[in-house]
Amino acid sequence: MQIGVLKERRAGESRVAASPETVKKFIALGVKVAVETGAGAGSSFHDSVFQDAGATIASSAAAVAAAADMVFKIQKPMTAAEGLDEVGILRSGSILVAHLNALTDKPLMQALAAQGVVSFAMELMPRISRAQAMDILSSQSNLAGYKAVVDAAATFGKAMPMMMTAAGTIAPARVLVFGAGVAGLQAIATAKRMGAVVYATDVRYATKEQVESLGGKFIVVDEEKMKAAQTAGGYAKEMDDDFKRKQAEAVHAEVLKSDIVITTALIPGRPAPKLVTAAMVAGMKNGSVIVDLAAEAGGNVEGTVKDQATVTANGVTILGHTNMASRLGRDASALFAKNIFNFVTPMLEKGTGALKINWDDELVKGTLVTKDGRIVHPTLAG
Ligand code: NAI
Repeated sequence: MQIGVLKERRAGESRVAASPETVKKFIALGVKVAVETGAGAGSSFHDSVFQDAGATIASSAAAVAAAADMVFKIQKPMTAAEGLDEVGILRSGSILVAHLNALTDKPLMQALAAQGVVSFAMELMPRISRAQAMDILSSQSNLAGYKAVVDAAATFGKAMPMMMTAAGTIAPARVLVFGAGVAGLQAIATAKRMGAVVYATDVRYATKEQVESLGGKFIVVDEEKMKAAQTAGGYAKEMDDDFKRKQAEAVHAEVLKSDIVITTALIPGRPAPKLVTAAMVAGMKNGSVIVDLAAEAGGNVEGTVKDQATVTANGVTILGHTNMASRLGRDASALFAKNIFNFVTPMLEKGTGALKINWDDELVKGTLVTKDGRIVHPTLAG
C-alpha cells in the first residue's frame, strides 16, 4: 500500500494533508508514503523532515498520483481550468481523501466518478463520539476561532484586559460572539483568556451552558424555539422570520456596545445567516473590529468582502478571511493530518498495512462519495 501526499496549489492555502508524525506512524504500520516536493513548505515541514520520517519525496503531483493507492489532500482537486488537472492524474481505482466540498460541487464528484476514483469527503464525517478524532471541521474551526480573536486584538487599537495603572484605568474590551459552535467556543475561551468581557449568542439552547462554563454571558432570544433548533446531527436549523426579528432586536444593543464582534454562524448546505446588519455596523464605535468567520459561506455581516479587510465610513474594520485555519498552517496541518490518520488506520490490515475496507462501517458509508464509476453518497446520488 502506498500513500501519496499532494501539494496544495490554491491561492492562500498553506496546509498539507500529512505531517512528519503521521508519516512516521503510517510507515510503522507497513505503508509506504510519497510526498510531493514542497508540499509542506507552507506549514514549515520541509522535504527533509518528511524524509527523516521515512517518506520518499516525489518531483511532481503526477509522479505522486501515479504510484499511489491512496492520495491525501487538504482541498478538493483542481480542474485544468484552475491550473492543473488534479482529477486526471489520479489512477482509476485509487482512493482520494480530502475536504471535497462534495455537497456543493457535484460536477467535480461526477468527474471523480468518471475517473474511477474512490473518494472520501472528510467534511461529511458523521458527528458521533467515535468520529471526533477524525472531524476536520472541528479541528480546523477550533484554530479558526482562536485566530479570529488574535487577529481582532491585533487590529484593535486598544488593549483587551482591564489595566489599572498610575496613569489611569483601561476598561476591558467587550467582545460579542455569534454562534457558539466549535469556532465560537474557542473564540470565547481565547477572548476570556485575554481579559475581555465576552457575550455570545446562538440559536441552539444547548450552547448556553457551554458559553457560561467558559465565563461568557449568553443572550437568550426565544427559549422554546432555541430548544428545538438543533438537528439530530448536532447542527443548527434555519430559523423562522419571527425568531430572526427577535434575535436582531436582542443583539442590536449588544453589537453597538461591543468593541469586537466575531461571527461564526453556519447552517450546513445553506448560505450563512445575515446577523449583523449594515445599520448595526453603522452604529458601532469608531475603531471597533468585526471578524466574519462565515465569509466563505457568504458572511454573517453585511459589508464583509471575502479575503479583504474593509474599513467602513464610521471606522469599523471588517475582516473576511475565508481560510482562517490556513493562517496557522503548521498546527492546522498537524491536526488535519491526524484526523486523516485516525480515519484511515482502521482500513489497514494489522501487520501488513494492506488495504481492507469495511464498506458497511458507518463512517466509511457516511463519507464515501464515489465508487465503481458512480456517485454513491445518498445525498448526491440519483
Ligand atoms: P457550525 O460550524 O455548523 O455552526 C457554528 C454555530 O453557529 C453553531 O453553534 C450553530 O448553532 C450556530 N448558528 C447557526 N445559525 C445561527 C444563527 N442564526 N444565530 C446564531 N448562531 C447560529 O457548527 P459546529 O461548530 O461545526 O458544530 C455544532 C455542534 O456540533 C457542536 O457544538 C457540537 O455540539 C457538535 N459536534 C459534534 C462532534 C462529534 O460528536 N463528532 C464534532 C463537532 C461538533
